[in-house]
Amino acid sequence: MFSKQFSRTLHTTLCYCKNVKLKNFKGKGASSAQWLTRQLSDPYVDKAKMMNYRCRSAFKLVEMDDRFKFLSPGQIVIDCGAAPGSWTQVAVKRVNADNSKENAPFGTVISIDKQQIYPIMGATILGNSDFTTASTQDKIKTLLENKKVDTVLSDMAPNATGVKDMDDENIINLCYSVLRFAVLVSNIDATLVVKLWQSNYTKTLENDMLHFYKTVKTVKPQASRSDSAEIFLLAREFKGLKCS
Ligand SMILES: C[S@@+](CC[C@H](N)C(=O)[O-])C[C@H]1O[C@@H](n2cnc3c(N)ncnc32)[C@H](O)[C@@H]1O
Repeated sequence: MFSKQFSRTLHTTLCYCKNVKLKNFKGKGASSAQWLTRQLSDPYVDKAKMMNYRCRSAFKLVEMDDRFKFLSPGQIVIDCGAAPGSWTQVAVKRVNADNSKENAPFGTVISIDKQQIYPIMGATILGNSDFTTASTQDKIKTLLENKKVDTVLSDMAPNATGVKDMDDENIINLCYSVLRFAVLVSNIDATLVVKLWQSNYTKTLENDMLHFYKTVKTVKPQASRSDSAEIFLLAREFKGLKCS
């Protein structure tokens, strides 16, 4: 825990820095200086701190759910690529997984990431777990105890290599791994949200999702930086798997 004095100094320094264009960021590359300048002038970074979200990404989910209303108390949600945990924080509240809404049904959130995720009250955390592996997916299924899922979220992103074709292929592979899992564990009428970078693969993924979901919409929340190729595909009303 920081002392009050240290927190105050840090706050004052950050407020001061916000008004300063970083020119000479000695010892750091230009991209670090750009990153810091952008962080300091980003209203979502401040808002996330104020609302105790672990990162600004929270507002992408908040905005999508405020607009399309797919999360509600009592639901079972899987959050793939959950670290550091801001989507999980939002999902826990919206499905009442922390039982903070006394008269509302109690939901479940299972959060998975390759990295460690520090505990979030109300969520079941699978940290240090690669979602694409059979062992992680088996663990999720065990936790589900044969119950079906209402919403599958994926904000997963691979480490960018800088080679566009490779990066596009890597993120699309993550999307397909989520889609394959979602169709096996989802309730009829369930929702799937996947993050990807706009590319030549987008339309094919959208069409593949339409085999399983009645609608698929492309969404670019305001909290998603305009200079980023990031988009989300929101698939609604899972049709179920037809056995022939
Ligand atoms: C943009 S961050 C997610 C931010 C998160 N939604 C939040 O609000 O805190 C993307 C995450 O995807 C995770 N990731 C990438 N590939 C993964 C994989 N195969 N399995 C699990 N997590 C993965 C990364 O470790 C990273 O933490």
